[in-house]
Amino acid sequence: MKTLLIKNGYVVNPADNFEGIADILIEDGVISKVGEKLKDKADRTVDASGLTVFPGLVDLHVHLRDPGQEYKEDIATGSEAAAHGGITTLLAMPNTHPPMDSVSRISYVTNKARTDAHIKIYQASAITKNMSGEELVDIGALVQSGVRAFSEDGKSVMSAGLLRAAMQKTAKLGVPIMAHCEDITMVRGGVMNDDENAKKMGLPGITPAAEEVIAARDCVLAHETGAQLHLCHCSTKGTIEILQAARNLGTHVTGEVCPHHFLLSSSDIPCDDADYKVNPPLRTIEDVEAMKNAIKDGIIDCISTDHAPHSMDEKERGFLSAPFGISGLETSAALVYTELVKTGFLTLSGMVEKMALNPAKVLHIDAGTLNPGAAADIAIFDFNEEYQINPAKFLSKGKNTPFAGREVYGTVKYTVKNGNIVWGKRN
Ligand code: DOR
Ligand code: ZN
Repeated sequence: MKTLLIKNGYVVNPADNFEGIADILIEDGVISKVGEKLKDKADRTVDASGLTVFPGLVDLHVHLRDPGQEYKEDIATGSEAAAHGGITTLLAMPNTHPPMDSVSRISYVTNKARTDAHIKIYQASAITKNMSGEELVDIGALVQSGVRAFSEDGKSVMSAGLLRAAMQKTAKLGVPIMAHCEDITMVRGGVMNDDENAKKMGLPGITPAAEEVIAARDCVLAHETGAQLHLCHCSTKGTIEILQAARNLGTHVTGEVCPHHFLLSSSDIPCDDADYKVNPPLRTIEDVEAMKNAIKDGIIDCISTDHAPHSMDEKERGFLSAPFGISGLETSAALVYTELVKTGFLTLSGMVEKMALNPAKVLHIDAGTLNPGAAADIAIFDFNEEYQINPAKFLSKGKNTPFAGREVYGTVKYTVKNGNIVWGKRN
């Protein structure tokens, strides 16, 4: 039997309402004991004195770009970047080239992940064939083959009738629809939020309503069909109100927000710096406040990255023509800790809930907990030392971040997957 003992760490495990100094014993990839001063001997002991021990983070929104755009990212680099960020499970979005819309295409990712991935990867399926919005994928066969979530991320399924048909199927099968909310007929070439700052910069704007009409529509459809709905990258105050209203009606809906949407507004965009170009766009200061409050109030369940790596060349094309997206895997935990926890806005347990426990519940997977019997997926952080975010040090191929140079706390010392150290000192 292979054993690992993590000693003297500050353990944060909201699944058991526990926070305090404890040891964790892992036997054959599974957590077997959590307690004070365990006497057990192990093959390897990690001294976590002064460090914080979390369940491995679960990121519901990652673009791995594999297959088709491996120059931006691939399964090996994306999953190693995730491990570097304390993430042990991620959901990969299906807008690859070709899109992930069939059992055989998805098996390419799952097979490659078996040899190349540093962490656990779930591949979401597209909702429509070729992501063209016209014909549903074979939802039954995909779920049978192990798919746990469906998404058209990058865009919305614009036909309400088609999405409703998809939801009627997913409701029966108990898998979530992860909705990117954007009415494409309202976007019209917009590249940032439609506000004073867009006017000042002379750039075409995207109205918040483009997000909100689809968020509202999808909540109505989830309510009618009984489907499980997850609203991806919520970015407007209005979307939060819609999410709350749907919840109050008993709709099975959860929501996620990304660090850039609760830390940056359109007023932070320096002239023509496309590292700030993201979809949905950075909104107003009022929206940023609404996002933060929604995290605190529990209206928002999950914090995900929407890790969207792009090449330097692409991002240097200027705000109008560069692609949308931010590389987020290696900054997310440090930003959340520094800006929400250290400031007293969110507790450590709250951070673990939003970044591990709740996302695991959305996918109905064994993750996000340090309870005995759970898979030993663990992230060990040093929250004591301040450093500057430096994209040159990212393991991700995507260096595109608006957070370069920001001072943060939170270095991942070890990431453990199924009891094996996949990031940090290996011996
Ligand atoms: O900024 C974004 N980038 N938002 C999305 O919805 C898609 C993503 C991408 O694939 O680059
Ligand atoms: Zn999206």
